[in-house]
Amino acid sequence: MINKYCQLLFSVLCIINTCIVLAAQISDQPLALSLTISSRTRSLEVAWRNAQIHDGDAVVITTEEPLTFQKPSTGVIESEVVTEGSGGGIEPSSNAFDNNSRFRSDWQCNNSTTSIVHQLIPKNANEWITTTVPFDYALSSEITIDTKCYGFWASYIDSNGTILATSCISAHPKWMNEMRSHIENFRLRDLFIPGTHDSGSYRYRFNPVINETLVTKYSLTQDDDIKGQLLHGIRYLDIRVGYYRSSEELFWANHGISRQRPLREILEQVLDFVEDTNEIVLFDIQEFPVGFGRNLDIHRKLVNFVKSVLGDHIADPQLTWQATLKDIWQRKQTIIVSYDNYEVVDEYPSILFQAIEQRWGNVQNLDSLERFLRRKNQLFANLISRPFADMAELTPDTWGVLTDQYGGLRLLADRVNRFVSKWYENELGVNANIVAVDFYRGTTIVETAISWNLKRIVT
Ligand SMILES: *[C@@H]1O[C@H](CO)[C@@H](O)[C@H](O)[C@H]1NC(C)=O
Ligand SMILES: *[C@@H]1O[C@H](CO)[C@@H](O)[C@H](O)[C@H]1NC(C)=O
Ligand SMILES: *[C@@H]1O[C@H](CO)[C@@H](O)[C@H](O)[C@H]1NC(C)=O
Ligand SMILES: *[C@@H]1O[C@H](CO)[C@@H](O)[C@H](O)[C@H]1NC(C)=O
Ligand SMILES: *[C@@H]1O[C@H](CO)[C@@H](O)[C@H](O)[C@H]1NC(C)=O
Repeated sequence: MINKYCQLLFSVLCIINTCIVLAAQISDQPLALSLTISSRTRSLEVAWRNAQIHDGDAVVITTEEPLTFQKPSTGVIESEVVTEGSGGGIEPSSNAFDNNSRFRSDWQCNNSTTSIVHQLIPKNANEWITTTVPFDYALSSEITIDTKCYGFWASYIDSNGTILATSCISAHPKWMNEMRSHIENFRLRDLFIPGTHDSGSYRYRFNPVINETLVTKYSLTQDDDIKGQLLHGIRYLDIRVGYYRSSEELFWANHGISRQRPLREILEQVLDFVEDTNEIVLFDIQEFPVGFGRNLDIHRKLVNFVKSVLGDHIADPQLTWQATLKDIWQRKQTIIVSYDNYEVVDEYPSILFQAIEQRWGNVQNLDSLERFLRRKNQLFANLISRPFADMAELTPDTWGVLTDQYGGLRLLADRVNRFVSKWYENELGVNANIVAVDFYRGTTIVETAISWNLKRIVT
């Protein structure tokens, strides 16, 4: 059925737009695994799709790349491994934290030289399980522009220990350049671009178990700094700027009225990243929640500040949104600065693009979010060349925040991220442009974007 729907969608797309033809088929998908990090517990999550379950299958998490799995030749090894009763499709499994089923792994990895930290017995073709294996974010701060896999690997193995699929915690520092020949004739509008919502709302050395307050609960939206987000593959940044005239740093990235990180830190991280990688980054300045007043003076100050830090790396807006990636790369100016104020954009035609259209559902539950995103996805907005961003997160209302009805943004993200991941892996990926999420490490949005981009063809 999905297949029919997509073929129909492809045909309609081709007739109306004659531009995006998708060579993809959604049926007969191979077994796939993913490893993500729970926004709520910061522990590993492992998910698989399209598994044909057989007796003796196992999903095993290791701390190095697994080469071989074998049964121990003598007796049973004594590693502390938990097997969790899973079940319930991709619903959050309440069994996931059950300690009763303590278990010894019946596998060794690499002849026992690589440790197994977790083992699960798959029960359903599609599952998404939150494990008890903690992920230490210090690991992420060590990655570089050459990192691919680090920290943890997951393997789906059969009863003979044959590896049927693997995945790892992965960075994607240069994914655009790596598929350059395939995507260089795309406009930004033709790409699937993974993004973050309120990208500047992160803290260093923050541990939600120890440091969480009512304020951080409703203001932090990410666990990686900007450099970390970019190294992991995020290319759309949603930056809300506040102006603080009596602060040493005048401009800050805000979340609403709550000030988060100095804008300078964010700009410098973007700059370093593009200098090292030549990737294309959308830097979308939105909202201006604090200190801008009615006239444009502070805006002018801000634009000059952005220009003073990013300098020659700012892409020329004269290129327009019709520019292909090739046009952008040719000039070696790969930071697109877009700005949510028409008058200011008019005043700086050589610095500012018009802001990205953010599609906000302003919804508080999963079903409404799904309805909203599916409805938007059917619009043939791809007739215009300006990129648009699906804001794929829940939005708490004020009363709910004051009464802490939601338990914080981490819990809200945890409630939707696995579903958002699934929607865009499937039908919504066909037509997606920018997708911006909270706590993106709990989604598969980067891998999903990359794989859809490989399937898209622009004619
Ligand atoms: C197990 O695999 C990892 C990753 O390839 C490797 O570093 C390690 O040396 C392997 N161990 C053995 C015994 O081959
Ligand atoms: C599981 O074990 C951990 C560590 O021993 C403990 O902190 C946690 O409370 C236990 N969870 C349950 C549901 O018993
Ligand atoms: C494991 O041991 C077997 C037998 O000694 C050897 O053939 C194989 O290469 C080893 N595998 C690894 C990953 O070291
Ligand atoms: C495991 O290996 C045996 C012997 O080679 C083979 O007969 C059996 O089909 C294998 N099982 C799986 C699940 O591949
Ligand atoms: C979190 O709490 C620890 C222990 O009190 C403290 O050392 C650390 O600075 C705090 N981190 C943040 C970001 O507040």
